[in-house]
Amino acid sequence: MHVELYERIWMWAAAGLLLLFLGAIFLTVGLQAIQPPSHIETVDPTTLATNPEFGTPAVRPRADGSVVVSVVAQTFSFSPDPIEVPANRAVTFRITSADVIHGFEVVGTNANAMAIPGYVSQFTVTFKGPGEYLIGCHEYCGTMHHNMVGKLIVKKESP
Ligand code: CUA
Repeated sequence: MHVELYERIWMWAAAGLLLLFLGAIFLTVGLQAIQPPSHIETVDPTTLATNPEFGTPAVRPRADGSVVVSVVAQTFSFSPDPIEVPANRAVTFRITSADVIHGFEVVGTNANAMAIPGYVSQFTVTFKGPGEYLIGCHEYCGTMHHNMVGKLIVKKESP
């Protein structure tokens, strides 16, 4: 079968672009640990106040030294605030929303998820060394969206 030269060039160029884009995805997954959320868990947003976990959102230590942070996003704040976690320990965030869709991003890190009413977004990160981070809402949620910020304090781990 005869394929025109220009057609052949375009076919190879299109195939090359596909490989480039696929490569970019695998590169970000491998090198920057950017992944889609993979945790599917539901929670009733209308009874959050009496929910055993999200009724009192807090940082809870586990026996192995890691911590679980339950976060409720609500127009226009995060709870708890500030969030205090130890450095160099696995920190599992469990985030939900009490009203509309919010975002939860620890600025400057890959800790980033959506806070969706009815769902629990969960991911685990480790912060190396103590420091302070800004937490920002990255989903437009209302007139004060730009003011919806929180603080994450990473403290030196206790011996
Ligand atoms: Cu909450 Cu934007």
